[in-house]
Amino acid sequence: MAAPSRSGSRARRRWVASAALAALALGLSACSQTTAVERTPAVERSEAESTTAVERSEAESTAVERSEAESKPPNAAPSPSPSGVPTYPSPTAAAAAAPSSAPAVSTDPANPLVVVNKRRPLAPIDFAPELVVPNVVTASGQQELLNPVTAHAAEQMFAAATADGAPMTLLSGYRSYATQVATYNGWVARQGQEAADVASARPGYSEHQTGFAFDIGDRSGACSLQPCFKDTKAALWVAAHAHEYGFIVRYPWWYHETTGYYYEPWHLRYIGVEAATHMHRRGVATLEEYLGLPAAPAYGG
Ligand code: DAL
Ligand code: ZN
Repeated sequence: MAAPSRSGSRARRRWVASAALAALALGLSACSQTTAVERTPAVERSEAESTTAVERSEAESTAVERSEAESKPPNAAPSPSPSGVPTYPSPTAAAAAAPSSAPAVSTDPANPLVVVNKRRPLAPIDFAPELVVPNVVTASGQQELLNPVTAHAAEQMFAAATADGAPMTLLSGYRSYATQVATYNGWVARQGQEAADVASARPGYSEHQTGFAFDIGDRSGACSLQPCFKDTKAALWVAAHAHEYGFIVRYPWWYHETTGYYYEPWHLRYIGVEAATHMHRRGVATLEEYLGLPAAPAYGG
């Protein structure tokens, strides 16, 4: 499925429509190796609803979108601007908002500003970071691993969220190259390669391998790794506060043409407080745009 150019906005919206439906059919939940098989398919939006959503102008008022989002049932698929989640500008506007002097792009997988996407595999491809066990609640009760700076920031963030009444759990942290082989191959076996590639990174191309990324769940367990996670207390809290601890929601809604992946309101990436706050304040939605990098909708190129 090739993405149209940005200039073809109507074609883009139509592509988004079919892509969104495909994503929803998949359950939109690729990040957790341990729970992928157990997930409930999330085809919860009727075709009429999805058509309305994608034909809607991206410039529509927030009030209208919020009203519509709030009227949807709890498990409704995400709208472009889910209730309570910051409204990101369009990709073009976001690019225009990117800082003129962007921070230096790093290829060092131990640098918090490293960009790992479909154009930028880890180097070396089997990189393994220093790892520690963060002192946070995991959904499985099993230990998860993160690199030290991310683990420390996660501990601070989890504590703050709990204090604010939005406790979260860590679902999936570091994944080695070998683990990602199993995760990705599982997706391909179940859904085929095209579907797998918009939900799960190929081995050597996953942020989870850096130790800077992890997936969260709401402590209630509601909507784990499903689109409706966006409306949980934990998701709303991280959308508003994650930057204060150096994190971004790495795969925002509408930005799969830039990031290569569908909306994952549960996938957080550590980039440092300064950069995350800068992005949040400027309304820059993706790391690619923030660092002035080309979009990475597909492998190669
Ligand atoms: N689900 C994200 C893209 C990963 O597999 O790393
Ligand atoms: Zn993830």
